[in-house]
Parts: sequence; structure tokens; C-alpha cells
Amino acid sequence: MKKEETYKWAGKQVRAQVKRHGDVVATLANTAAILKSRFPNYFWVGFYFLKDEHLILGPFQGPPACMKLTLEKGVCAAATNSGKTVLVPNVHEFPGHVACDSRSNSEIVVPLFDVNMRVRAVLDVDSELLEDFDAADAVGLEAISLLLQEIWEKKEK
Ligand code: SME
Repeated sequence: MKKEETYKWAGKQVRAQVKRHGDVVATLANTAAILKSRFPNYFWVGFYFLKDEHLILGPFQGPPACMKLTLEKGVCAAATNSGKTVLVPNVHEFPGHVACDSRSNSEIVVPLFDVNMRVRAVLDVDSELLEDFDAADAVGLEAISLLLQEIWEKKEK
């Protein structure tokens, strides 16, 4: 199956979770599980919540990871600060990359917005291969991020 197709199927499963949604952590935990089971090349997939100017580890699948990241450096911080997807073909060439596990070689991070377009979390995927992610992953993961937009409780603008 081409990965565009796989993202479509994963998206359907995530949509079903969001429909049943009652709890942010539960929905994101199943989203991480859906993605990890559909993409064998994912070494680590998970979420970091934006809380009090830091990124705090949320639901994930894979080896243990850094529990708290600052907004000053790293790929997750770059995606949070810019509100844009950050695709890193070689993490060793990304200035300030935070290595939670030395086996990661490439990475993609997609911001998650609420309905007011505030960044609430990021979706982070790592691979052991170099250059493992491309525009198709960005499109697929951004679609997943959009599906998750309605899970956050509304905040005043
Ligand atoms: N590499 C990330 C840290 C999170 S781990 O990859 C799970 C970063 O540079 O922000």
C-alpha cells in the first residue's frame, strides 16, 4: 500500500476515535497506537502538550522519551513556535535537536491546533532511517492533526 493510502486509512480510524471522543489523553493514546501499528517505519510516535511555556510528554508509542522540552531548542519547539510542520531529514544536522534516543535519525513534527488556531500540542514522529519522511508524511500527518482539532475544550480568545 502506498503511504498516502495508509494515511487515509489511519485517518478514518482516528476520525472514529474523535467521534467517540470524551477525553483528550484517551483519544491521543489511541491515535498514537493507530499510527504506530500502520507505519512499521515509525520508531517513536507521540504527543507533547504545550503547558506553561514548556512541552510535556503525552501519549506515545515507542521507547521512553524526554518528559519536558523547552521552547528554546529542538524540533518540537520549532514546530510549536512557528505553528508549522518541521521535516528533518537528518536530525544530526538540525541545530539544537534534542536527542531523546540516539537511534533516531530523521524526524517530523506537526503542530496541533484547537478551533481558535492556538497550538495546544505537537505530534512528533521519529525514524531510525535517514530521510525517512517526505511531503506525503507531512500531508498525512497534517490531516490527522486537523481531525484532532475539535478534541480540545474551547478557550476564550
Ligand atoms: N527530537 C525532539 C525531542 C522529542 S523526541 O524526538 C521524542 C526535539 O528535538 O524536539
